[in-house]
Amino acid sequence: MTSHHTGRIRTDIAHNARVWNHWLRGKDNYPVDRAVGDRVTSLHPGIGEVARADRAFLGRAVTYLAAEAGIRQFLDIGTGLPTADNTHEVAQRAAPDARIVYVDNDPIVLTHARALLTGTPQGATEYVDADAHDPQAILAAAGRTLDLARPVAVMMLGILNFVLDTDEARRIVRTLMAAVPSGSHLVLTHPTADPELGGEDNVAAMEFWNANATPPITARTRAEFTSFLEGLEVLEPGVVSCSLWRPGPGQPPPVVAQFGAVARKP
Ligand SMILES: C[S@@+](CC[C@H](N)C(=O)[O-])C[C@H]1O[C@@H](n2cnc3c(N)ncnc32)[C@H](O)[C@@H]1O
Repeated sequence: MTSHHTGRIRTDIAHNARVWNHWLRGKDNYPVDRAVGDRVTSLHPGIGEVARADRAFLGRAVTYLAAEAGIRQFLDIGTGLPTADNTHEVAQRAAPDARIVYVDNDPIVLTHARALLTGTPQGATEYVDADAHDPQAILAAAGRTLDLARPVAVMMLGILNFVLDTDEARRIVRTLMAAVPSGSHLVLTHPTADPELGGEDNVAAMEFWNANATPPITARTRAEFTSFLEGLEVLEPGVVSCSLWRPGPGQPPPVVAQFGAVARKP
């Protein structure tokens, strides 16, 4: 990509949003991101599959929420760079009046945000440059586009892994879910080192990541992931590899080392 709008963007160290884009076979990344991303792939060969399975999960979860659960408002925190089938495209395909607020704190995502603001005239899309560690600021900004008195799907896909303290991650989720009414949903994905999902490789991969890239990352166990869903009704099929959350017809997909779940606030 060109460097004419670098600004706050650092091209000397790999950034998660850009490496994720590389794993998704996108073009919005720098040599440093490709070098680190490829080293991670050599340590955890399933990582490309994780990224693609995560996006496919996003598609199925958002389609379910918009088409079947009647959700018309989405707060997508840790959006990532625009790719195929962003949240607003999936949601508005099912419900053209859906309203979406995107949140990320990476300066490169901000420079690409225009591509996320191409929603239907009946709906709305907004982008907020904010940090997940400050849920109150996110809620204040989201409240300008979303009616927080009506159900919201709070989406945190592949982002709580960047909140290193598990108690703080729980507090963030609790603060967000406390601010939205009954009928709201929480959509989560999170990497794991649990052998149950074949995540053992993540230990070395994340150690390498933390020495060479930003922001620092952590894996979580099934018990830790499940604790984020406390007080909510976890929808079928529960906490599973995100590839196995209501997969489409055909061959059963490969298990990836990324938990996924959708839960409803009672
Ligand atoms: C692994 S990507 C996931 C992107 C997208 N949600 C998906 O599932 O494809 C994580 C995203 O979270 C963003 N992120 C990381 N830490 C963040 C923080 N503290 N506040 C806001 N965004 C953050 C990164 O910039 C990156 O775009």
